Amino acid sequence: MKTGLFPGSFDPPSFGHLDIIQRAAGLCDQLLVALADHPTKHPLFSLHERLDMLHQLTRKFPNVEVGQFHGLAVDFARERNVSFLIRGLRSYADFEYEYQMAVANRRLSGIETLFLMSGEEHARISSSLIREIGAYGGSLLQFVPHEIERVVRKKFESL
Ligand code: COA
Repeated sequence: MKTGLFPGSFDPPSFGHLDIIQRAAGLCDQLLVALADHPTKHPLFSLHERLDMLHQLTRKFPNVEVGQFHGLAVDFARERNVSFLIRGLRSYADFEYEYQMAVANRRLSGIETLFLMSGEEHARISSSLIREIGAYGGSLLQFVPHEIERVVRKKFESL
């Protein structure tokens, strides 16, 4: 059985992440979408909020499981018997960072990273853009599903 691991900070998850999840789920027997718990990154959304959003985003995929990890992605990958990591590439600008990470992860563990090119309609989405539009009350429905839009809006109303 081939299990893929798609790690990320998902602060918040977007249609761009959903695109990668949907396509990756078709390539492996099981896909683990895992939230990297890095408080040093100072995410806007709590771990609980992000896990909740990921559950909502992925509930229609029977072979997708949501998880979380603290520490190295490859340690979690080994713990869960993961065959390969999955990452999305949106543009040339992502390449250098992703290349470095993929090489380091392979050196640390022997685990390969498979890259999916983002669909062109999602290539310019980023979580910080979504946070910025949300902070000023702009419409997010082009970037995230309804249920996540509600969470983002509620977050900014509570700040
Ligand atoms: N569609 C839309 N947006 C995407 C995207 C896609 N397909 N892929 C990435 N992004 C965006 C995210 O929204 C985020 O936007 P932001 O910077 O504006 O907030 C940005 O790209 C990066 O997000 P993410 O994919 O979550 O990566 P990250 O850099 O936050 O986290 C980890 C990368 C979590 C995978 C990595 O840091 C990790 O594995 N950490 C654990 C420790 C470790 O093992 N380190 C590596 C050692 S080699």
